[in-house]
Amino acid sequence: MASTPFLLCFLLLIISAFSFHFSNATFVLPIVKDNTKSQYYTSFLVGTRPSTRVYLVIDIGNRWSWFACDLYGYNSNSTTYHEVPCNSPKCARYEPTGTFCSGDTCGVYAYTPWGDGLYAGGLVEDASTLYKQAQPNSLAQLSKASLPTFPFSCADKGPLKGLSPHTKGVVTLARVPFALHSQISSTFKVPRKFALCLPSSTSSGYNGAIYFGGSPSYMSKSLITTPLIINPNSTAPIRSEGETSVEYFIKVRSIKIDGTPIRFRSSLLSFDIKQAVGGTKISTMDPYTVLHSEIYKSLISVFVTKATAMKMTRVAPVAPFGACFSTKSIVNNAKTGPSVPIFDIIMDGKSPLLHNKNARWRIYGANSMVKVSENVMCLGFVDGGSSPTTSIVIGGKQMEDNLVEIDLETNKLGVTSSLLRMGTNCSKFKGI
Ligand SMILES: *[C@@H]1O[C@H](CO)[C@@H](O)[C@H](O)[C@H]1NC(C)=O
Ligand SMILES: *[C@@H]1O[C@H](CO)[C@@H](O)[C@H](O)[C@H]1NC(C)=O
Ligand SMILES: *[C@@H]1O[C@H](CO)[C@@H](O)[C@H](O)[C@H]1NC(C)=O
Repeated sequence: MASTPFLLCFLLLIISAFSFHFSNATFVLPIVKDNTKSQYYTSFLVGTRPSTRVYLVIDIGNRWSWFACDLYGYNSNSTTYHEVPCNSPKCARYEPTGTFCSGDTCGVYAYTPWGDGLYAGGLVEDASTLYKQAQPNSLAQLSKASLPTFPFSCADKGPLKGLSPHTKGVVTLARVPFALHSQISSTFKVPRKFALCLPSSTSSGYNGAIYFGGSPSYMSKSLITTPLIINPNSTAPIRSEGETSVEYFIKVRSIKIDGTPIRFRSSLLSFDIKQAVGGTKISTMDPYTVLHSEIYKSLISVFVTKATAMKMTRVAPVAPFGACFSTKSIVNNAKTGPSVPIFDIIMDGKSPLLHNKNARWRIYGANSMVKVSENVMCLGFVDGGSSPTTSIVIGGKQMEDNLVEIDLETNKLGVTSSLLRMGTNCSKFKGI
């Protein structure tokens, strides 16, 4: 990969550019956006003498972390490498719904949400290197910290299809005991939470971060929170009966555009356990929010009506989007991006920040509009068809430059309050 040295320098540069404002977030990894694929990836070292730098797409919904070990030249020569034996208690903990053997190793699968196959592999644990705040509550330098057991499996090239070419695998942050955040919490005894600040762009120099153990303290005070709920029916491509989903679901009550609720069957917002469909989840593997057709059509219709009233000029749609406008007809606001009708996702949970009204995820133009060319800007939501597994999948674009916190201590999802408006910018987390 010709760009590896460049990326390495780039990562080191942005890591040295971090100067932290958080009190309880002690571990951190950088996030880089692949603009072409609209995927977000991180990088760290795996193994000890030798150690190998890996680049992995961040997936908050995958059952396992995995990478194409051979392509990185990673193998059992690492002195901290060990395989998890099949039929061991640890294997049973990793795979509660039934284990299988891959050789003598605990069997797991490597996959992506869009991949056409599952690749069985053996579960390996090896040391990995993260970054740690040198001193709590200060803008101190970062030091390296070694996590003794990062669990993953070695895959071949098969499951790489569709992944950013800068990466050769996936790191999971799902609700599973062997996700990276779970390992960090149990090893270093920090709270079971992590926060993502997905960057909107790499070229503009704003870069993101994953905070493990907490969020930057001045930001966490202004998070709008809603309960995380469990989907009783697994959404993974491979599942056994009775298995719950490992993805992060929330309860949406309604969606408003400039205060007008959009109409659709409210049952779409609940779990239909007969069909194993419905509900709302967040996903880092979907670049844009994907909606059930019924929700999507209503949303486009209300948005277009509001946009027309604002004198936005509609132009021919550009796939995969359904509503596009001339950029000339849209004013740009320095803080909130293109001045377009504002979305509010009204969720369960009362927010003290909103006078105890229902929690609300507010989406301004910066997170709703996608510039597809010099003259055309489209509404960044896509049609998920009339029988999707999940009715609303909140995608990367809508999370970018916001802090999205998953707190498994309190079982809450937190998102930056746009009341403050300023908070919606990853670069702010660097304190520069
Ligand atoms: C492990 O390292 C030794 C010595 O450097 C080398 O000869 C051997 O091929 C390596 N093993 C693998 C599986 O690459
Ligand atoms: C969904 O989960 C519920 C609760 O475990 C279960 O009763 C139901 O059979 C599941 N639905 C499907 C289609 O598997
Ligand atoms: C993000 O921060 C940068 C640097 O402070 C600023 O130039 C930019 O306008 C901000 N963007 C948004 C959307 O707030």
